[in-house]
Amino acid sequence: MLKQYYLISILIILLSGCNLNDSSHAKNSDITKEPLTWLPNAGNATAEFNPDFPFLQFIPDLDLTGLTNASQGRELFIAEWTAAPGTRPLLDGLGPLTITSACSDCHLAVGRATSLNANGEVGVGLLFRLGNPFGHSDPFYGGQLQTAATSGNSEGQVSWAFDENDKPIFTLVTHQLALTEGINLGPRLSPQLVGIGLLDLVSDNDILSREDVQDLNSDGISGRAHWHTINGEKMLGRFGWKAMQPTLRHQSAGAMQQDMGLTTSLNPTEPCTELQTICNDQPNGGSPEVSDNSLAAINDFLTLLAVPERRISNQDEFDQGARIFANIGCSDCHQPTLTTANSDKYPLLSNQVIYPYTDLLLHDLGHDLNDNVKEGDAQPSEWRTPPLWSLGLIEKIKGSRFLHDGRATTIEEAITWHGGEALTANNNFKALPAVEKKKLLSFLRSI
Ligand code: HEC
Ligand code: HEC
Repeated sequence: MLKQYYLISILIILLSGCNLNDSSHAKNSDITKEPLTWLPNAGNATAEFNPDFPFLQFIPDLDLTGLTNASQGRELFIAEWTAAPGTRPLLDGLGPLTITSACSDCHLAVGRATSLNANGEVGVGLLFRLGNPFGHSDPFYGGQLQTAATSGNSEGQVSWAFDENDKPIFTLVTHQLALTEGINLGPRLSPQLVGIGLLDLVSDNDILSREDVQDLNSDGISGRAHWHTINGEKMLGRFGWKAMQPTLRHQSAGAMQQDMGLTTSLNPTEPCTELQTICNDQPNGGSPEVSDNSLAAINDFLTLLAVPERRISNQDEFDQGARIFANIGCSDCHQPTLTTANSDKYPLLSNQVIYPYTDLLLHDLGHDLNDNVKEGDAQPSEWRTPPLWSLGLIEKIKGSRFLHDGRATTIEEAITWHGGEALTANNNFKALPAVEKKKLLSFLRSI
């Protein structure tokens, strides 16, 4: 314990020495500073980079004793679930309304699942919330569109096209009712799952200490926590593009219900509204369809996923890229480090300094990224800062895209859509000399 405390103190000293959170925006004057000190990007959860299979890897050298659930969780995550009654009772209950039949169809081991396909069709990697700027969902279809059905009619499909500003516009194609007037399609791209167990273990206080709701320091950045009340308990949202889910357990149960039509003790109902009869017409796979044991197993699997190590070819340029990232204001939201809290269940993941490049807070990203769908307490233009670690690994993979609706095909393009609180950082980025832009992008591709 003492040793741990001693190490942490050293780390804090080292990190404060880096001053990567410097928001003074001193213009590139410090680019020639001495080398920065870096810890492994995910502490004990850092894994050797495996180009064939970068994501969905267990933490290396994991002692799975006492964590036997995790391997089963992996099976449940990659399994094809089927409609009830199925030949494998553990894996039945899919649908009747669903999007696809496996978690791993959307969360790939390589890159991001396809989204804006060239033929105007939408790939499985993009799903749609249904809502309006006041937080109402569609009275018939509910809060999320299910584009497939195990039997009977799905709710419909979505087609897309770019408007004159290269912003994707989505249209519901259905044989059933049109969307209720004023209800919009809110696209959500499936993220790659990296270090989410670590993010689950960051304390609420660590996140809250980064809030600046009223922008008291006048830097134009006003991150705020997304609070939810779940069964009477106030919980801090941290997962998803709008921080809609407070824990991995809630996130998984939400995915099971809304993406796969699977009920759990957390969400005991199918994704049907009272006006939809299809869910009552079809047999179900038990009440609930996914046991608490299965949910816990998936949770263990997700918690123990590793983060690929950094891929740095030139340390000096990497350091310069990191400084540019801080100097132009990216790190005001994409904050380099967080620290995990103590965890009795996962001691290996306790008290780790990690580099996800997020504050897990909501920010207003401006008009261009407004989709006219309010979710929970998050306004249509508010988004949770997404973690940036491992992002470079997906840029070259065919079909992978960036931002909540997949409109950007490269990291650079994703940056240039930033507005609202991030407009200054975006303008600073655009104003960078080409050689510095290159260093920044190369840094982003290596973290
Ligand atoms: C149809 C595609 C799809 C399927 C199937 C799916 N997900 Fe997801 N997943 C998403 C999308 C989209 C998001 C972002 C959701 C949001 O923004 O609210 C997400 C978010 C997540 C996150 C949070 C990631 C983060 O960085 O915040 C986790 C964890 C997750 N899913 C786990 C699962 C599990 C476990 C399953 C299977 C039970 C599953 N997902 C099935 C599309 C999918
Ligand atoms: C005000 C907070 C804020 C600032 C400043 C900011 N970002 Fe972001 N960034 C976000 C949010 C929020 C999103 C998600 C927006 C969306 O998808 O609609 C995002 C998305 C991204 C993405 C795409 C992530 C993905 O998973 O697809 C990249 C890359 C990125 N930012 C890089 C940068 C860089 C580089 C800078 C500095 C030039 C920067 N950001 C400045 C908040 C910020």
